[in-house]
Amino acid sequence: MPSWIGRFLSSSVGKKTVMALTGLSLVGFLVVHLLGNFTLYTGGIEGFNEYAAKLEDLGGLLMAAEVGLFAIFVIHMGLALRIARENKRARQENYRIRATMGNSTAASRSMAITGMIVGLFLIVHIIDFRVPTLFGEIDNIGEAVVARLSSPVGATIYLIGILALGLHLRHAIQSAFQSLGLENPNWSPLLRLGAQTLAWALAVGFASFPIYCLLTTGAASAAAN
Ligand code: HEM
Repeated sequence: MPSWIGRFLSSSVGKKTVMALTGLSLVGFLVVHLLGNFTLYTGGIEGFNEYAAKLEDLGGLLMAAEVGLFAIFVIHMGLALRIARENKRARQENYRIRATMGNSTAASRSMAITGMIVGLFLIVHIIDFRVPTLFGEIDNIGEAVVARLSSPVGATIYLIGILALGLHLRHAIQSAFQSLGLENPNWSPLLRLGAQTLAWALAVGFASFPIYCLLTTGAASAAAN
């Protein structure tokens, strides 16, 4: 690795820039993932399965995209842990810093907590759907999704994970724009509004699935009785 890249990555600006770029790439993935999931509404379980089959047909391309996505996750989370460790050390070394960084400390603590919940949720989610499809253990992914999200325990786990995601993104998208130097007195309020809207649109969009599955299966079993 050329030394200027090493210097950039170990600088505070470099770490923040990489955090912002990897974070925004993950947001990009979430937008695509949510749009894909909407096939459950537009095409029912069959439409959802067709969409999943099209993804599987991508073969090596899908695998490459998944490896890339995983690498982005690892870099993002690794840097978050490193920055948190460095901030903690700086606070211990100089108590005054803590006093002057009151707000940002509270914000970064909440980012760490929501980030960890999202991380745990992701492990559950991948074990729920991606691992079984990878090993050919699920024939009907649409039915598996609806079954998982219709159970009160499954739906609750998903809603908690998605709420944490919304809270994390509410702060994260805005802070990524700031790290990339996009803040400007003229368009900052608009950018902030856009960031908040995107964060909550993603959270509401994802949360609609467990809510929809709970309500529709509840209605179906009531009709059967
Ligand atoms: C409740 C709404 C959601 C549904 C119904 C859903 C559904 C799915 C399904 C079915 C898969 C497996 C795809 C396959 O193997 O064919 C998957 C993979 C994945 N999901 Fe979700 N998901 C939801 C929410 C989320 C959220 C909130 C996140 C991020 C925090 C997320 C991140 C991922 C990731 C990283 C993968 C693996 C990527 C891949 O292999 O393509 N999902 N999801």
